[in-house]
Amino acid sequence: MKKVTISSLQAQKQSAEKIAALTAYDASFAKLFDEQNIDVLLIGDSLGMVLQGQDDTLAVTIDDIAYHTRAVRRGTQRAFVIADLPFMSYATPNQTYSNAAKIMAAGASMVKLEGGQWLCETITGLVQRGVPVCAHMGLTPQSVHVFGGFKVQGRHQEKAEQMVEEAIAVQNAGAQLLVLECVPSSLGKRISEELTIPVIGIGAGKDTDGQILVMHDMFGISANYMPKFSKNYLVETGDLRKAVKKYISDVRSGAFPSTAHSFE
Ligand code: KIV
Ligand code: NA
Repeated sequence: MKKVTISSLQAQKQSAEKIAALTAYDASFAKLFDEQNIDVLLIGDSLGMVLQGQDDTLAVTIDDIAYHTRAVRRGTQRAFVIADLPFMSYATPNQTYSNAAKIMAAGASMVKLEGGQWLCETITGLVQRGVPVCAHMGLTPQSVHVFGGFKVQGRHQEKAEQMVEEAIAVQNAGAQLLVLECVPSSLGKRISEELTIPVIGIGAGKDTDGQILVMHDMFGISANYMPKFSKNYLVETGDLRKAVKKYISDVRSGAFPSTAHSFE
């Protein structure tokens, strides 16, 4: 079995082979997803919402992420493992480096941070120190109180142009992946075309280089809210493994997301 690496993900973008990603928080689900050939597993700070039952991701700590990363690592053989740096864990350079060290030591192969232009120095510093970076732009949930709710971003032309520029900036700073959340499909397409690094979308339309969903949303078992861009694959398959298999094949074929799961 060939392990997924940042180089193989980059090659997938080059050959227009869509990247299928899911969040995971424990060894059992990580193993189940890995056995279905998921490309990427993310230990997301969404665990604050789907595991802890909180309204947002802000209370998640670096130790929470490290704990779940160790569990996911043990269940994973093939997939590429990314872990979130949670709210305020990358506010200063020293903090960023020691927190990134914790989750790399826990078994992540890349860290994810939310932001654009302002993150550039942080990204360069991490990459220079051997920590690969995934940037997360669009609807960045750690800023939910700045946005005034979980809202689609980049709807206006000026904001969309700015997002394109900032995405190029984080790529130039050294980011090797981009997660793009809740933007109009046209902007998801544009950013994926402009960037040479793979863009993994969630609510960003069908033209990104890959898709990610929160596992609880994909199974339709989230405690609180089911976002519009998500799809319940368990209801149509009635089996956990079949649901994952169908999600992955729908991502690879481009059947997911349809316009019903996208923003125009
Ligand atoms: O925390 C998370 O699960 C995420 C994904 C939704 C991209 O950041
Ligand atoms: Na996250």
